[in-house]
Amino acid sequence: MNVIFMGPPGAGKGTQAERIVNTFHIPHISTGDAFRLAMSQGTSLGIEAKGYVDKGLLVPDEITNGIVRERLQQPDCEKGFLLDGFPRTIAQADALDGILEQLGKKLDHVINLNVDRDRLLARLTGRRICKSCGATYHVMFNPPKQEGVCDKCDGELYQRSDDTEEKVGTRLDEYVSKTKPLLVYYQDKGLLREVNGEQDIDVVTSEICSLLERG
Ligand code: AP5
Ligand code: ZN
Repeated sequence: MNVIFMGPPGAGKGTQAERIVNTFHIPHISTGDAFRLAMSQGTSLGIEAKGYVDKGLLVPDEITNGIVRERLQQPDCEKGFLLDGFPRTIAQADALDGILEQLGKKLDHVINLNVDRDRLLARLTGRRICKSCGATYHVMFNPPKQEGVCDKCDGELYQRSDDTEEKVGTRLDEYVSKTKPLLVYYQDKGLLREVNGEQDIDVVTSEICSLLERG
């Protein structure tokens, strides 16, 4: 099963992806996670990406497409994949079509998580992430049992550098101008499935599961 998760920053793509890949046993490919890992390791990719990510801007298409092209060729993607946060521009979607064609694969579903802009700011500024295992929490909506500590691995929770009010504003503007047009792109291909991302986390998960199980 080859799936894309779309939606604005904070819509719940990462939260839901974590659950769905455990159920369907497919790899979770997040371009945002790939950039953050490279940034924390100080690689040349990380240094280049940092200049964009830290401002809330999209990283240029050539860099991002290269990462996805390489990742989709790995053997664990043979049984399927979940792309989270890619594609984010029409040029990336065109590149993905070319990559999949070369690999003899096709997309099955594009799940769009719909959430109102006002809620997104609250979600992002209250988000906390585990330094060790990457699990995502929210100080109000999905708090860990012990403040600042991961339920799953006792790791320390931190706040992403692009989750400040100012950077969230830039990220939302980037989404509206560059990523939102992709909804029509995938609707025209008959692949778009809409899910109300404002519901409880468990409800959203079960709606996504039913869509994916329906085939
Ligand atoms: P990326 O890491 O992809 O960030 P994003 O798209 O901005 O999405 P987020 O990770 O912020 O949100 P999410 O939808 O995963 O929400 P989450 O589940 O955490 O990208 C970061 C940067 O990398 C970009 O700005 C760009 O610079 C670069 N980049 C990445 N991909 C790129 C690409 N393709 N091209 C160019 N540049 C790229 O949930 C958010 C919070 O809400 C959490 O605290 C969670 O607990 C809570 N929550 C989730 N669901 C619910 C719910 N149903 N009810 C209540 N609270 C909820
Ligand atoms: Zn953890």
